[in-house]
Amino acid sequence: MKRTLVIVKPDGVERGLVGEILSRLEQRQLRLVAADLRTMDVATAKRHYAEHEGKPFFDRLVASITSAPALVMVFEGPDDTWRVVRTMIGATNPAEAAPGTIRGDLALEMDANLIHGSDSADAAQREIAIFFPDLA
Ligand code: RTP
Ligand code: MG
Repeated sequence: MKRTLVIVKPDGVERGLVGEILSRLEQRQLRLVAADLRTMDVATAKRHYAEHEGKPFFDRLVASITSAPALVMVFEGPDDTWRVVRTMIGATNPAEAAPGTIRGDLALEMDANLIHGSDSADAAQREIAIFFPDLA
């Protein structure tokens, strides 16, 4: 799987970090294939984060990702591009994310961790189909 879904979450768009984040991914030589600035509806957010349904943070997560526009994108690169992007994003909790990663350099809080990246080849395929059915 050479493609992966990336979302600059509403907190990242609000903070004006779209350029910084895009720049990092592009400088790594990942290629932008699709991009759409959209306010996600609740049904789409629940579908996207279906693996977390029932967890204590689920409602907060859905509320946050649907609260304002997010930049939903597909990036393309080598095999397992999802893994390259996840490494660049850093740990889920920004307080524990390594310096040099997007979260480790630009974020501090779990509920405002700026960016989503697919966490497996299957997830990449599933998530791209949700947001960009024409690419699936
Ligand atoms: P994402 O899916 O957004 O790329 O983040 P991730 O893979 O690094 O983390 P994941 O486990 O998939 O969690 C999704 C998002 O839910 C919020 N979260 N809060 N214990 C908590 O309070 C908690 N755990 C997760 C985070 O915003 C995380 O990005
Ligand atoms: Mg995840």
